[in-house]
Amino acid sequence: MLRIGIIGVGGMGRGHFTYLTAGEVPGATLSAIADTSSAAREWAKSRNGNIQIFEDAESMLDSGAIDAVMIATPHYFHPVYAIAALKRGLHALVEKPAGVYAKQVREMNEVAATSGKVLGIMFNQRTRHIHQKVRQLVASGEVGEIRRTQYIITDWFRSQAYYDSGGWRATWAGEGGGVLVNQSPHNLDLFQWICGMPSRVRAFCGFGRFHRIEVEDSVTAYVEYPNGATGIFITTTGEAPGSNSLEIIGDRGRLRMEGNTITFWRSRESVREFSDTSTEGFKQPEIWRCEIPVPGGGDGAEHRAITRNWVKSITEGTPLIAEGAEGIHGVQLANAMLLSAWTDDWADLPTDEEKFYSLLQEKIANSSHEKSTGGKALDFAGTF
Ligand SMILES: NC(=O)c1ccc[n+]([C@@H]2O[C@H](COP(=O)([O-])OP(=O)(O)OC[C@H]3O[C@@H](n4cnc5c(N)ncnc54)[C@H](O)[C@@H]3O)[C@@H](O)[C@H]2O)c1
Repeated sequence: MLRIGIIGVGGMGRGHFTYLTAGEVPGATLSAIADTSSAAREWAKSRNGNIQIFEDAESMLDSGAIDAVMIATPHYFHPVYAIAALKRGLHALVEKPAGVYAKQVREMNEVAATSGKVLGIMFNQRTRHIHQKVRQLVASGEVGEIRRTQYIITDWFRSQAYYDSGGWRATWAGEGGGVLVNQSPHNLDLFQWICGMPSRVRAFCGFGRFHRIEVEDSVTAYVEYPNGATGIFITTTGEAPGSNSLEIIGDRGRLRMEGNTITFWRSRESVREFSDTSTEGFKQPEIWRCEIPVPGGGDGAEHRAITRNWVKSITEGTPLIAEGAEGIHGVQLANAMLLSAWTDDWADLPTDEEKFYSLLQEKIANSSHEKSTGGKALDFAGTF
């Protein structure tokens, strides 16, 4: 039995705690948790009498009580504790995002690469059949060489009460960003997982545009890919009703994912070849509208599916659905978008890690944002 510990049993950590306690991950058992909050520790104690409870992560990592750790703390700590775990010979599964800035994620990846341990990341949306199908359609060449991408995710609406619910949320020091590091890491990952990494970005962000926060709650980014393709990525937590759609336009047609449907307008021939060879100026290639079947099945428990896969990877060598090392791509994209907005200029990918890091430090140092913490003390020492 693989003995798992969880660092951080807040909103998300409690989800992991609950399915592990219910024995829903074959081959694994919950053996310990660590949380700096006494309320969180009390919560855990009242729900599982068979686990060890620690006040800090290091004590749990040193305890010998666990073989592997899930990290569900605020984002800055993900690489910090993953590195600490891997260096102690423990496997690690980090929550998204992999970290706040690429420099710290790169360090985590370097440690993971030589550790001989399994580092996974909770990109639970990769388990959705619809996302896997779109990825297959692009990878198989069905859509043709990508010309343009368009990902609009404005259905992450959050109220002011959400931002006020945690002292760390939506501050440069505590969270390190807004929608790009909290809600949209899933979409940034899918964007690159399906369409590949852009080579440069020009982004425009609204900081506290819709909420009393200092970080970005609105992003409009234009991206360019190495093959000359272009794209846009738009996201916000301030609009309702929002929408969520991904369009990929390739040389063999246009694919649109929205809700649980994929529609593909398939060109019978290469659009470029048609354009080059057609003798009629207004004629279009023959297009077939196809509704692509999305496989059903699955129990919809995405987080549990990622955890099961990570455990199987540790115990049986099964390939990971989401390799921890791949988390850096979404962080690179988020960093590049913020960097572009801050400097009012293009940002290349891979991101200038040092420049981003130093500008982030400036934001943290100059933060004048005061936040209600519900009476709780804020201590971000050493988090970034
Ligand atoms: N994969 C998903 O779908 C998903 C969904 C929600 C949140 N998340 C991620 O999970 C992480 C946590 O988010 P949340 O909403 O649960 O936050 P939260 O504030 O509800 O919980 C965080 C917990 O971590 C504890 N904590 C903070 N610093 C700690 C430290 N140094 N050591 C030990 N414990 C510490 C806090 O006391 C709290 O109990 C975030 O990175 C977030 O992006 C992922």
